[in-house]
Amino acid sequence: MLLRLTCLLLWSCLAMPGHAQANEQTERERLNAAVQPIPYQGELPTMAAVNLRDARLERLLDGLTYPWGMAFIDDDQLLITEIGGRLLRYELAARKLTPIGKVPEVVTAHDQTGLLDVAVHPGFASNRWVYFSYVAADPESGRYYLTAVDRARLVDDELVDRERLLTAEPYSWSPSNFGGALAFGPDNTLFISIGDRSEADFAQDGGRLEGKILRLKDDGSVPEDNPFVGDDEIDDRIYALGVRNPQGLFHDAVTGRLFEAEHGPMGGDEINLIRAGRNYGWPELTYGLNYTGEKIGHGTHRTGMEQPLFYYLPSEAISPLVVYRGSMFPEWEGDLLAGALKGRHVSHLDLDGTVVRSEYPLLREIDGRIRDIQVASDGSVFILSQSGELYRLLREAKTPGATGTEPAAFDASLLYQFVCAGCHDSGAYRAPRPSVPAEWAPIQAKSRDLVYRQVIEGVGAMPKRGLCNICSDEQLRLTTDFMLGPQSKSEETPQETPQQ
Ligand code: HEC
Repeated sequence: MLLRLTCLLLWSCLAMPGHAQANEQTERERLNAAVQPIPYQGELPTMAAVNLRDARLERLLDGLTYPWGMAFIDDDQLLITEIGGRLLRYELAARKLTPIGKVPEVVTAHDQTGLLDVAVHPGFASNRWVYFSYVAADPESGRYYLTAVDRARLVDDELVDRERLLTAEPYSWSPSNFGGALAFGPDNTLFISIGDRSEADFAQDGGRLEGKILRLKDDGSVPEDNPFVGDDEIDDRIYALGVRNPQGLFHDAVTGRLFEAEHGPMGGDEINLIRAGRNYGWPELTYGLNYTGEKIGHGTHRTGMEQPLFYYLPSEAISPLVVYRGSMFPEWEGDLLAGALKGRHVSHLDLDGTVVRSEYPLLREIDGRIRDIQVASDGSVFILSQSGELYRLLREAKTPGATGTEPAAFDASLLYQFVCAGCHDSGAYRAPRPSVPAEWAPIQAKSRDLVYRQVIEGVGAMPKRGLCNICSDEQLRLTTDFMLGPQSKSEETPQETPQQ
């Protein structure tokens, strides 16, 4: 079963391990004998496949030109932006793409200038408001830029009643770090991210909008309960400070939490939980370095400044971000999916409350810069690649008549090999190795129930469920038994340990 599903979305089917060989060698002999890397070491990416059981990746569209953002209008339609200035409406059932008329002209001269994100008003069905961010140029010279946000009503595939809600002045020479991510929060408030516009120090200046998360009402006015209303030093529109180039914002209606993803300098992309009035530290605090290699700021911690939920080293250029809510991939419920530009994959972060338990890459087979991710109402995941494709990751409903029970034979040795061996064979994360008696005997001596509990709930650097979110408790107990050997009544001879 696991073999088949590993082949499902995987690049490594050719490197299947010789799991079926009755291997009498000890781990040490095997490693000594190896003259080249052993084909399969349970590396983390492979685990992703285990978590994508029965899933299928479907390409819905290709030929888009540098798409940037997307937003669902309803169950069947979504809007897609292209950086060059086109806004498109895509109908799923009809598989039809329609360009929207009367989109304002955007500057697309350089780098990241162009049409950026799009968001649909929560009350769209009755008011038809669509919000979009883009780069506007100084009308006089045309050579200085800023981030702007407009809204307009979508009527008969044209934008009408367009109005400017935000002009993140001043104009600047920098053709990058615009931010521009949009996300609706409670009470129809709109969160907007503004990048530091390549001037890191602006991010700590409360009088400026660069390097901030803003919060506006849906008509562009300032909500009275914004955290800095009444503070003369800080712009009323600011919700949080000290961010670098955030291209991902997501408000999770279930928990009421706002998440942000930002590009770090060299290293140090961050996932942040954004709270009102907080300072996220850029450029005082960062886990990254300047592209020239020199240090930035003053380390990684300071009182009064927030720590990221997660940071990436090396940098993957993390851009879009969503919290998964849906029925199709229940094992991801409440987890974060972030898109990597440079890393060319979807990063899955197992979020447990406000703690990231594990991170691993998914969907490398897309092999594109991931520009946006959205979850459809049926729980399928839509993924937009900068090279012009729109994908949907889905899991087909069980065919009628299928029993839907557990796979007939559960093979603990395979689960061990695919999921647990990555740490427990190699000792990664200081995982105790069953092949090393000194490390393993103390665990064999523990009460089995305690060990089961530690495996299921996680302990120390051991992630909960050993990273296997789709594994049942019973499967985890069987795999633990496989690792520990059958329960002995006394502490006579230590049990044989798994061979691979
Ligand atoms: C990301 C690395 C990693 C993965 C994957 C992983 N483990 Fe662990 N595991 C650890 C570490 C680290 C420890 C030691 C934790 C400690 O005691 O601090 C550990 C400890 C354990 C223990 C001993 C627990 C105890 O009570 O002392 C068992 C049993 C175990 N893991 C089983 C599993 C199983 C089963 C899987 C696969 C389903 C798995 N692990 C996957 C890292 C991992």
